[in-house]
Amino acid sequence: MLLEISNLTKRFGGLTAVDNISLTIKKGEIFSVIGPNGSGKSTLFNLISGIYPPTSGSVKFNNDNITGAKPHQIAFKGIGRTFQFTTLFQDLRVIDNLIIGHRLRIKTGIIDVVLRTRQARDDEQLLGQKCMVMLDFINLTSLAFRPVNLLTQEEQKRLSIGTALMSSPELLLLDEPTGCVNIEEIHNLIQLVRKIKEKGVTVCLIEHKMRVVMDLADRIAVLNYGKKIAEGDPAEIRNNEEVIRAYLGGEYVA
Ligand SMILES: Nc1ncnc2c1ncn2[C@@H]1O[C@H](COP(=O)(O)OP(=O)(O)OP(=O)(O)O)[C@@H](O)[C@H]1O
Ligand SMILES: [Mg+2]
Repeated sequence: MLLEISNLTKRFGGLTAVDNISLTIKKGEIFSVIGPNGSGKSTLFNLISGIYPPTSGSVKFNNDNITGAKPHQIAFKGIGRTFQFTTLFQDLRVIDNLIIGHRLRIKTGIIDVVLRTRQARDDEQLLGQKCMVMLDFINLTSLAFRPVNLLTQEEQKRLSIGTALMSSPELLLLDEPTGCVNIEEIHNLIQLVRKIKEKGVTVCLIEHKMRVVMDLADRIAVLNYGKKIAEGDPAEIRNNEEVIRAYLGGEYVA
């Protein structure tokens, strides 16, 4: 087990956004969280990544209790994430955004930088190499020096994922990686998520596009009004009557 969530609850005033959810994510899998708008998916990510402390319940990562830890502490332990709405620095270039993503992990302190110590020089060289590898991995090498605001939505989504990967997470939380991207353009993103899994990174994926979920996910949890109403492999979820009633309805095309 990589991530173990037990009886997690988050209330905002009178609204219970996440209601007593328990689930586990295994090393190496792609675990998908689906459900209607407002069902608590992003809030669940915000609890795992420390944006909000839970009202009750616990989160364990690699058997380490991380409940209530701060976002930077959780990131440092090996959980990376992207946000539903991109948080890239729009006026900066692609490569600058990757460098900022890496800042979290480098060992150089301010003294090292000022004195240009061996450590600082090694880190700088390593960072350059790491950026090159990442640009290639997310297929943005030719756009490395372009400002983000000139990129398409799909390219920005790939960059957001690359930025999150720069901190070398063991678990990557992706909040709607194909959101705002045309269906004709999602192929590259699907391939990228596959490649991330092949690298050995565990993925937890919030996604509305059923074709993407059914294609990528090893297991799926379905939320409705903050509660987990089902969990299973894609075939089980596709045939679950409560899920069809609450979410898939007539919209779902197999
Ligand atoms: N900071 C907050 N303060 C108050 N209410 C919040 C806050 N964050 C989320 N909520 C509420 O919690 C509920 C769950 O929201 P959440 O964003 O987790 O849903 P979601 O499943 O990610 O929806 P979507 O598919 O639209 O992204 C919603 O009713 C939302 O309005
Ligand atoms: Mg959301």
